[in-house]
Amino acid sequence: HESGAHNRRSRSHSSPLSLVAAATGRKPSRRPVWFMRQAGRSLPEYRAIRADHGMLEACFDPAMVCEITLQPVRRHDVDAAILFSDIVVPLRAAGIDLDIVAGTGPVIARPVRTTGDVAALPRLEPAGVGAIGKAVELILAELAERTALIGFAGAPFTLASYLIEGGPSRTYTHTKALMYGDPVTWNALMGHLADITIEFLRVQLDAGVDAVQLFDSWAGQLSPADYRHYVAPHSARVFAEIADYGVPRIHFGVGTGELLPAMTEVGPDVIGVDWRVPLDEAVRRVGPGKAVQGNLDPTVLFAGSDVIEREVRRVVDDGDRAIAAGAVGHIFNLGHGVLPTTDPDTLTRTVELIHSADLP
Ligand code: CP3
Repeated sequence: HESGAHNRRSRSHSSPLSLVAAATGRKPSRRPVWFMRQAGRSLPEYRAIRADHGMLEACFDPAMVCEITLQPVRRHDVDAAILFSDIVVPLRAAGIDLDIVAGTGPVIARPVRTTGDVAALPRLEPAGVGAIGKAVELILAELAERTALIGFAGAPFTLASYLIEGGPSRTYTHTKALMYGDPVTWNALMGHLADITIEFLRVQLDAGVDAVQLFDSWAGQLSPADYRHYVAPHSARVFAEIADYGVPRIHFGVGTGELLPAMTEVGPDVIGVDWRVPLDEAVRRVGPGKAVQGNLDPTVLFAGSDVIEREVRRVVDDGDRAIAAGAVGHIFNLGHGVLPTTDPDTLTRTVELIHSADLP
C-alpha cells in the first residue's frame, strides 16, 4: 500500500479537523465530539432504511453505508462520522458463515474451538472488502471539510470471543478455556485475527479515513496480567502495522479501568475511557502524551436536561483536568455506545452543549 497517498485531504499540516487536532496535541477550533453507535437504531431515518434491508446487506452496499454514516452527521453536527459497518464484517468477507441478529448481535454458524477449526479459517483478501473501500470514498466525497471520518475494526480478543462462543456471552467460558488451556491454538487464532484486522483497517486507510478506532469491547473481562500475556502482543501488532499511515489510532474497551495502562502500552495515540473512570484519573493510569476520549454515561441522556447539563459540564471539566495532567487533548464521547431508545434530539442538544463549552 502507499501510505497516505490516497488520503483525499492530505491535510496533514493545515488540517481543519478538530478531532485530529485534539488527538495530536494541536489546538482544535472546538472541543470535538462524536458518539459510538451514533449511526443506527436511535435514528428513525436509519430504521426506515433497515426496514427493507438486512444488516449485513446494508454493510456491503456502498451507497447504503454512505447514507447511514452521514445521517448522524447531518442531524447532530458531530465532529466525526464513524463508518457504518460492524466488527464481524471482515470475518463475513473472509467467508466465515455468520449473521447479525437484531437485538442479539453477531451469531456464528459453526463456532471455532479446536486446532483444526483455527487452521481451517480463511484469510481476508482485500477484494472481499472492496465495497467498504468504495463506501469510504463515497463518504469522503460528501463529508464537510471539518468532519473527520473514523474507520474501525474489532480487536483480536473481541473478535475471538464471538468466533469461539458463537455469539454474545456473559462469562466468555469457551474463550477463556481455550486461552488458558491451549495457548498454542489461542495464539494461532489471535494471530490470524490480527492479520484480518490489519487488512480491514488498511483497506479503510488506503481509501482515506482520517482516524481509526480499534474496539476491544470485551477485553475488560481479563486481568491486566492475562491481557498482557494473551492479548497485548496481537493488538500491538495491529497498531504497529498501521502506524506508517500517520493517522490517529484510538483504542477502546468497556470496563477497562484496570487495563488502561496495558491498553496504552500496545501503542494507540488516543485511549477511550468508559464512564467508570474519570478522565483525569484515566490520565494518571495512562501516563502523559496520549489524548483521551470519553466518557459520558450513555444512560445520562435519559435523565433530563438538568442532569445532562451537569454531567456534560463534569466530563468537560474532567477533560480539562486530564489535559492539565498531561493528556494532549480531549475528544468528547459517551462511555459506550448510544442506546437504541435514546431521543435523537437529546443527542443534538448535547452536541450543542459540548461545543458551547470553553476550550482548555
Ligand atoms: O455508529 C457506529 O458506531 C458505527 C457502526 C457500528 C456498528 N457496530 C453497527 C451496528 C460499530 C462501530 C459497531 C461495532 C461493534 N459491533 C462492536 C464494538 C463497539 C461496541 O459497541 O463495543 C461490537 C461489540 C459489535 C458487535 C455487535 N453488532 C453488537 C453487540 C450488536 C448489537 C446487537 C443489538 O442489536 O443490540 C451488533 C449489531 C449492530 N451493529 C447494529 C448496528 C447499528 C444493530 C443492528 C440493527 O440495526 O439491527
